[in-house]
Amino acid sequence: MTAEELQQKCGLIGETFEIKEIVNTILQVAPTDLTILITGESGPGKEVIAKAIYLASKRSNQNLVSVNSGAIPEGIIESELFGHEKGSFTGASEMRKGYFELAHNGTIFLDEIGEMPISTQVKFLRILESGEFMRVGSSTTKKVDVRIIAATNKDLEQEVAQKEFRSDLFYRLRSVNIKIPPLRNRRDDIPLLMNFFSNEIAKKNYITFEGFSGEAYQLFKNTTWNGNIRELRNTLESIIVVEKGKKIDYEIAKKYISENDYENSSKNLPMVTGKTVEQAEREIFYRVLLDLKSEIIYLRNLIEENFGKDKDGKFLPIIKHKNESETETENKILSIEETINNTIAKLWNNSKNKMTIKQMAKILGISTRTLGNKLQELGLK
Ligand SMILES: Nc1ncnc2c1ncn2[C@@H]1O[C@H](COP(=O)(O)OP(=O)(O)OP(=O)(O)O)[C@@H](O)[C@H]1O
Ligand SMILES: [Mg+2]
Repeated sequence: MTAEELQQKCGLIGETFEIKEIVNTILQVAPTDLTILITGESGPGKEVIAKAIYLASKRSNQNLVSVNSGAIPEGIIESELFGHEKGSFTGASEMRKGYFELAHNGTIFLDEIGEMPISTQVKFLRILESGEFMRVGSSTTKKVDVRIIAATNKDLEQEVAQKEFRSDLFYRLRSVNIKIPPLRNRRDDIPLLMNFFSNEIAKKNYITFEGFSGEAYQLFKNTTWNGNIRELRNTLESIIVVEKGKKIDYEIAKKYISENDYENSSKNLPMVTGKTVEQAEREIFYRVLLDLKSEIIYLRNLIEENFGKDKDGKFLPIIKHKNESETETENKILSIEETINNTIAKLWNNSKNKMTIKQMAKILGISTRTLGNKLQELGLK
């Protein structure tokens, strides 16, 4: 497989030296059974790289089992990873295979490895070195053949210094370490990623995308992107959908990027989003609106495909006439007023305990008084 083929296959965008080097490393190490540690900040593509390793490996026709070590409660992590015997603890009514057994002959991706409890790490080290493990409640050793890929956004060296991570496991893991640089260190990939995501988002939402101005590209290139590619993608999703049909110029783009995120500004912002609380909240609510919009489009298409209205305005299954124009069909479905009412009701139900009416009105782009009246009209307030 060539570098281009691999990038194409995995949707791995990037032409900078940094990305090319990572792709070359993947091509070298993927066909071996070496354990690989992927490190990088939040959101630069650790999971994408893990999948690329799997796809370029000789185990690509076997299972890839992905496990988020950080999301499993400490009390059950060993049973989840290594399985348990029937009756080994209250509630263990059946024997259960763990993720390692499920990945036998294939690959396991252990995400957020830095979150693994220190007591579990010793068992992980054993399986990593010899493939041996014991199900919880068993005294018999079993053996699996599993290729291990691990990822973390933590500085494991620091974790070792703080005795949060075993040093023997750290040295074993880091023998092949793919370090993904933050997006701000490979800015030349930003326009490429912008075009890729924008087209994808526009297509998904059935809207047209008119492109960016040169200054807008430049602004995006100058932005810090502490949340890396994930943040870039989320920002583009808000812009493309909310500003649909417009060419995105500097002024529009600027509204969606915190001034604190422009180059040379404070680097002391929280790393996950790199945004102020107000902006992070706004982003969350944009996302609620975007999800709602996709749902509405999906439902509308579904209704259009299967139903029509009778004379009383009730929906009835129909056989669509071939010469019926698209606009006529669309008018029959949801009026703008109904769509607006649905949007307001959903935002209200999701957010009434989390934000003020003023904040909601701002997101919806209407006055506080109009929103108050609407809520009363809908019997919500
Ligand atoms: N090189 C890339 N080309 C295209 N899309 C990418 C690339 N890298 C990351 N992405 C996209 O960016 C988003 C974040 O990527 P991913 O989930 O792999 O990051 P991560 O480092 O695992 O993030 P987190 O720290 O939040 O777990 C995903 O939507 C992913 O598809
Ligand atoms: Mg991830």
